[in-house]
Amino acid sequence: MSEQRSQSPMIIDPPERLLMGPGPSNPDPVVLKAMASNMVGHLDPYFLDVMDDTMRMLRAVFRTENHHTIPMSGTGTSGLETIMLNLIEPGDDVVVAVIGYFGQRLVEMATRAGANVRVLESSFGEIVEPARFAAELERKPAKLVALVHAETSTGAEQPVAEVAQIARDAGALIAVDCVTSLGGMPFEVDAWGIDAAGSCSQKCLGAPPGLGPVTFGPRAIEAVANRKVQTSTWYMDLNLLFQYWGDAGGAKQRAFHHTAPVSSIYAFHEALRLALDEGMESRWDRHREAHEIFVEGLQRLGLSLFTPESHRLPMLNVINIPEGVDDAAVRGALLDRGIEISGGFGPLKGKTWRVGLMGNNANTERIERLLGALGEALS
Ligand SMILES: Cc1ncc(COP(=O)(O)O)c(C=O)c1O
Repeated sequence: MSEQRSQSPMIIDPPERLLMGPGPSNPDPVVLKAMASNMVGHLDPYFLDVMDDTMRMLRAVFRTENHHTIPMSGTGTSGLETIMLNLIEPGDDVVVAVIGYFGQRLVEMATRAGANVRVLESSFGEIVEPARFAAELERKPAKLVALVHAETSTGAEQPVAEVAQIARDAGALIAVDCVTSLGGMPFEVDAWGIDAAGSCSQKCLGAPPGLGPVTFGPRAIEAVANRKVQTSTWYMDLNLLFQYWGDAGGAKQRAFHHTAPVSSIYAFHEALRLALDEGMESRWDRHREAHEIFVEGLQRLGLSLFTPESHRLPMLNVINIPEGVDDAAVRGALLDRGIEISGGFGPLKGKTWRVGLMGNNANTERIERLLGALGEALS
């Protein structure tokens, strides 16, 4: 009897979790409800309006006038790979800053796109000082500078505005991974002069995972138009994608490229709407205040943060695990109380926990719940 039951398919009925790891965060119920809305076709006039409205709101969230601003079908990684594969041609010189695991992934992507990659590296928890970019570009020019704004593996914020200026002065494009930062701290595509940026749906924007929001500015689009060889990707080819999403000033006529994930885009639309209703500045402030409340609570528990205060992220907190405390046992005890946090990455594995305060979870009540459970697990 029990054997028969174990072979029958599951009925999806997931437990309730408070998601205080590095993402996904808990979407607002309005966002989840949108996913269950009526299905329409991906070329339905209603859906084309949803696409236009999503692009409009995504521009406001990225703080840009860039027409070429869409959620890629695929997670944050797909957006980052779209950037790399469209901007890089084989043989191009590319400078990548590596302050942790996600910078290393940009190196991998640029290398696979055929670039000659030069890496500017820092030790874990540190950042690459802007002067190092200036010195490297003076030594040898590059077509593209790529970096991670909010490094999820170390909790460090890499300065972007100053590096973007340095890159532009040196005639290089600048592309930024803002997967963890977008929606949770200032990120200004136009004011900072960023040419391309890629984020995700599931962290500070509070939608389910599955989309990779990207934006491309005029200099990036010009670089794509001037390519000598076609990009090796068909799915992520910007020219083909915008025949579906609609090119600037182009006809309303849309050409089929792929079947858009309609329900995911409904949810993302609602998440963007909620973010803009709140206001980006208020949302950034809320994430900053949540971080401060959390840090105070950690101090009460005798816990310290790994990342130096000078460049600590608000939405991703890397906590030192005290001597003699069992990493997995504490995370297990939290999960028993319905709370997810995450372990450390690479050299920080077993030595740190990573706690996300993202989207709706940048909230005092939820933080107090986590601190209470953490206190119990440590006692
Ligand atoms: C900084 C950073 N870049 C890229 C990614 C990859 O995003 P995704 O998992 O949505 O593909 C992550 C995921 O956590 C991240 O934190």
